[in-house]
Amino acid sequence: MYRILEKQHLNPTVGKMVIEAPLIAKKAKAGQFIILRVDEKGERIPLTIADYDRARGTITIIYQIVGATTMALDRLEAGDALCDFLGPLGNPTKMEGLKRVAVVGGGVGCAIALPVAKGMSEKGIHVDSVVGFRNRELVILEEEFRQASKEFRLMTDDGSHGEKGLVTDALRALLEQNTYDEVIAIGPMVMMKFICKLTKEYGVKTIVSMNPIMIDGTGMCGGCRLTVGGETKFACVDGPEFDGHLVDFDQAMERGRTYHAFEEQQCNLFRKEVEQ
Ligand SMILES: Cc1cc2nc3c(=O)[nH]c(=O)nc-3n(C[C@H](O)[C@H](O)[C@H](O)COP(=O)(O)OP(=O)(O)OC[C@H]3O[C@@H](n4cnc5c(N)ncnc54)[C@H](O)[C@@H]3O)c2cc1C
Ligand code: FES
Repeated sequence: MYRILEKQHLNPTVGKMVIEAPLIAKKAKAGQFIILRVDEKGERIPLTIADYDRARGTITIIYQIVGATTMALDRLEAGDALCDFLGPLGNPTKMEGLKRVAVVGGGVGCAIALPVAKGMSEKGIHVDSVVGFRNRELVILEEEFRQASKEFRLMTDDGSHGEKGLVTDALRALLEQNTYDEVIAIGPMVMMKFICKLTKEYGVKTIVSMNPIMIDGTGMCGGCRLTVGGETKFACVDGPEFDGHLVDFDQAMERGRTYHAFEEQQCNLFRKEVEQ
């Protein structure tokens, strides 16, 4: 069992937990993730390692409450325990040879982008960051990003906090002024697709973190397959980070939609059964 040491809400739909997991904390690196089960009957879900403390033996996770498992997770409190907590999984973020990067986070994707920005900054890499949210209420990790970045731009769709506009607007301005070795973009699939379109114009290599459906997280089930550079890749073992200019985003989004449609169909069938 994996004890929850701390829990807090970062906004009305995003929670943060510090979990006691010394063996994972010993090996964890930025860019990796864990798979957890809340209880023995629960589903396995992947969440990024948002932070780790090797001395304390803890892993921090940040989760958006979107469905059954994240709701069940959020019902737990400090002092409760998780049934399974497996990791670290996936490949760490590659940082070798980088001198200046721009990190872009969108929504809860900021929880995945922050350890990357922090890890790079700690290695002496110049990090400029752009984060985007729909509105002020949904803003998370602002201070943490500010601390990890030389230049920091916060965008909201409605202008209720930071600047009004999209992350692509702020990134374009940064690309006009600076030369980057790499852009790292993490957020909704459609955001990453448009960031890649923009960085292609400027010829800047772009890394994205892909989050397709994952089941086993060890390359066995094929659930997380993607097409990258015309080849089939598994996000859990080959990623989750890939060269964004090679990712087939349209196919990845289509696969995501199929899952949503299936999910909705199952819910409707369930509702009908309950009503009868
Ligand atoms: C490598 C990776 C890292 C991730 N890191 C984070 C993170 O740090 N914070 C965060 O909030 N979310 C993260 N996610 C997404 C997170 O796994 C889903 O939000 C979660 O599984 C939803 O489960 P649910 O039962 O609450 O919702 P459901 O109602 O089951 O699903 C809601 C949506 O979540 C996604 N989802 C559901 N099950 C899975 C699954 N097994 N694998 C992947 N996606 C799924 C689907 O898009 C689905 O439509 C990550 C996903 C991946 C693949
Ligand atoms: S989650 Fe099964 S192959 Fe990646």
